[in-house]
Amino acid sequence: MNIRPRRNRKNAAIRDMVQETQLSTDNLIYPMFLKDGNKIKEDIPSLPNIYRWSIDLLLSEIEECLKLGIRVFDIFPAVEDRLKDKTATLSYDPNNFYLKAIREIKSKFPEAVLMSDVALDPYSSDGHDGLVENGKIVNDKTLPILAKMSVAQAEAGIDIIGPSDMMDGRVGVIREALDEHGFSETSIMSYTAKYASSFYGPFRDALNSTPKSGDKKTYQMNPANKMEAIVEAGLDIEEGADMIMVKPALCYLDVIHLLKEHYPTPVTAYNVSGEYAMVHAASRNGWLDYNAAVYEMLLSIRRAGAEGILTYFAKDFAQMIRS
Ligand code: PBG
Repeated sequence: MNIRPRRNRKNAAIRDMVQETQLSTDNLIYPMFLKDGNKIKEDIPSLPNIYRWSIDLLLSEIEECLKLGIRVFDIFPAVEDRLKDKTATLSYDPNNFYLKAIREIKSKFPEAVLMSDVALDPYSSDGHDGLVENGKIVNDKTLPILAKMSVAQAEAGIDIIGPSDMMDGRVGVIREALDEHGFSETSIMSYTAKYASSFYGPFRDALNSTPKSGDKKTYQMNPANKMEAIVEAGLDIEEGADMIMVKPALCYLDVIHLLKEHYPTPVTAYNVSGEYAMVHAASRNGWLDYNAAVYEMLLSIRRAGAEGILTYFAKDFAQMIRS
C-alpha cells in the first residue's frame, strides 16, 4: 500500500493542518427576535434558549455576543396582532418599535453589523410575505411596499437588507429605491433559493406569523427543484444582490454547492428554526451530543460552499469554541 489515507489522520495536529474547511464566529449571523416593551425575555417553546427580547435586554445580549466574537445580527420583529394590517403599513413607519430599536442598537454599538428581513409577513394580517388579493399573492403590488420597507430600514441604520419574500423582481426594485434615497452603500443579501419548507414552524411560532390561509408554495420554491435555483440566483445577481442565500440549509446542501460552483457572488445559508429545534429535541433526550452535532452541522454547511451562515446556534458555538 503506497497510499494510506489514515496517515493524514494520525493525530490532532496533522488532522488540523490538512483540514480543508474552517469555521469561526466570523462566518456566523445571529438571528434574534425583538418585542415591544421593557424587561421582556420571553421563552419560545419550540426554540429552546432563544427569546423574544425587549430592546433594553436585547442591547445587553448583543453586547455579550459582540464580546464572544459575533459581529453580524439579523433582527426580526414580533408584532402584536392588533398592529397588523393587509398592507403591512407598520413596516415602514419610521417610529415603529423595530426601527427605533435598530437606531438604538446602531448608536450604542456602531461596530455591530445589522441585517433585517424584508417581507410583509411579520406585519401582515394575512401572514403572507406578499399582498393578498382575492386569495392570491399579488407580485407587482407587493414590490413598492418592499421598497418602502427597505428604505425605512436603511434609514434606521440597517447594513444588510434581506429580502425574504420571493416576489419576482424585488431585488432590482429595492436596489433602485435604496440608491435613489442615498443608500448606495447598503447591502442586499437576497433570500435567493428559499424553499417552501416544513422547517420554518418554530420561527412562525416566534413571530406568530403563520399564514391565515393557504401556504407559501406559489412564491417559495419547490423542494424538488435545483436548476430553478440557478435561474433565481441569476436574476438576483443581475438585479444587484451582493450576497445570495439558500434556505433552509441542511436539506439543501446540494443547492448551496451548486450556486457556489456556478456564481462568484458570496453564498450564505440559513440554518433555520426547525433545524435548530431538531438538534435540541434529540439532545434533550440524550440521543445526540449537542456540541458535536452543532459543530458538524455548521461545518458541513461551510463545506458545501456557504461563506456565511445564519444560525440560532451562533451564541452557543461562540461559547463552545472558547471553552
Ligand atoms: C419570513 C421569513 C421566514 C423565515 C425567515 N424569514 C418564514 C417564512 O418564510 O415563513 C424562516 C426562518 C426560520 O425558520 O428560522 N419571510
